Amino acid sequence: MKGVAAGATVLTTAGILAACTTATDIATSGESSEALSPTAVPSADTASNFNVMPDSKTKVGTTYENIMSAMTGETGATTKYAACAKVADQDDFAQVGRLFSAASAAEAIHIELLYELASKMDPDTKKPEPPSVTTHQSDVNLIAAATGEIYETSDMYPAFIKAAQKENESDAILVFTHAKLAEGYHAEHYLNAYNNIDTPDDDKYYVCPVCGYIHKGEAFTACPICLTKKSAFKEY
Ligand code: FE2
Ligand code: FE2
Ligand code: FE2
Repeated sequence: MKGVAAGATVLTTAGILAACTTATDIATSGESSEALSPTAVPSADTASNFNVMPDSKTKVGTTYENIMSAMTGETGATTKYAACAKVADQDDFAQVGRLFSAASAAEAIHIELLYELASKMDPDTKKPEPPSVTTHQSDVNLIAAATGEIYETSDMYPAFIKAAQKENESDAILVFTHAKLAEGYHAEHYLNAYNNIDTPDDDKYYVCPVCGYIHKGEAFTACPICLTKKSAFKEY
């Protein structure tokens, strides 16, 4: 038995998300990665269904400020996940290491999408500096990562989507919505990896280069969020 998680209370994605999100969020982060049909590709219209948490922890500003805030969060995430991947590799949790590497790459994609948006609004925009990060043992790293993803998918991005809708910032609505949906899948993968840390399988993780969606295993043909074909995905 390698992980402390083995003796911990088993958490389910649906249980955690039910405690933390709206029904819409649960549906969009789905137990199955095939949960979203092509007809559910997010748009300004579908994004309007995302409700903001009644006790939201998100500080909302202008859309430009929100993009910068999201970019700061994504920069922290990509940096932290890269460090967590190293911890997992050192501790012989190879599949957990691949998940953290895949998620680090996915957050880097979100940074680029946000940076492109911000640069259109202010050409002098600078990317945030990577923060210094601390890591723990791999099971703690997984549950902390899941908590961060749940916050982003259920609170931060929905709040930013609503603000962007008020400003009619359609490009921002789309980028925020893609990221919001991808973070729901990231949370699901982290919780599954946490629950199965001592019983990994051989599945690889596949990252959508357009929206940062991650699929576990080979049984898919395209991104359920942005419809990018599997052949463009990067394997971890
Ligand atoms: Fe992200
Ligand atoms: Fe994420
Ligand atoms: Fe995608």
